[in-house]
Amino acid sequence: MVDAVYKGYIMENIKNSECKCFQEKEFTSSYRWQHWLRVLAIVVLVATGFYLADPFITPASHATPTGFLQDYIRAFHLFFGFLLTAVVLFKSYIFLFVKDSSGERKSLRDALSPTVWLKQIGYYLFITKHPKLRGTYNPLQFVAYVGFYLMVFGIILTGFMLYVQVYHGGLAALLYSPMMKLTVMVGGLSVVRQIHHLLTWGIILFVTVHVYMAIFNAIYGKEGSMDAIFSGLKWHSKHE
Ligand code: HEM
Repeated sequence: MVDAVYKGYIMENIKNSECKCFQEKEFTSSYRWQHWLRVLAIVVLVATGFYLADPFITPASHATPTGFLQDYIRAFHLFFGFLLTAVVLFKSYIFLFVKDSSGERKSLRDALSPTVWLKQIGYYLFITKHPKLRGTYNPLQFVAYVGFYLMVFGIILTGFMLYVQVYHGGLAALLYSPMMKLTVMVGGLSVVRQIHHLLTWGIILFVTVHVYMAIFNAIYGKEGSMDAIFSGLKWHSKHE
């Protein structure tokens, strides 16, 4: 029933605009799942991270030590930190080696073309049409995503350097020696903390611009590009 109404609505729109439109697969379900897991992990990590930086609520002190709020928040932070690490490693493997990601890899060629850069900037300034791309991402997007992943790798590494200081068994014991060597190399634990904190702000900046650009493209591009990260489908016109 809902499908029929939706179909009718779409057909009506197509008739009205005299546009021969069709939907094409833009993102696979695995891509979309990974995207939303990254969103979930980042939101929780930013919120819990700011608490760890400045624990603004502390449980009332008690004769028996039971109020371990900071400890719980840190454990929560680490749980989502491991989730982020897993999805980022998985995504990196897919990006580098899986055939389906060749479109994403081809974006590097667009990013090396000055003509595509000029056309893309012109598009954002409402001067030119969107350039024809060989890859999935436009050059600005590609450079922003590379920057984002460098920040994420940096925050994961510094996160693990902090992790081995607060947990000492299992994985932490295994990683203790290399993480300590890195900690000494960067100038000590307080520097590690500052880098971890600074990268948090870098990621917040990226997410803000990313959401702004997604809304811009959805409104200006009129291809339902915002829907695509939910449904996986994007609209195209027949004469494209
Ligand atoms: C988007 C990712 C992340 C964000 C935004 C984030 C944010 C933060 C922030 C703001 C702090 C407080 C730093 C300070 O003292 O000023 C912190 C602390 C910490 N983070 Fe992260 N973090 C992220 C990922 C990770 C990962 C992947 C791990 C490890 C698996 C991790 C482990 C830790 C640890 C152990 C602390 C110190 C806790 C303490 O002081 O007791 N973080 N994080």
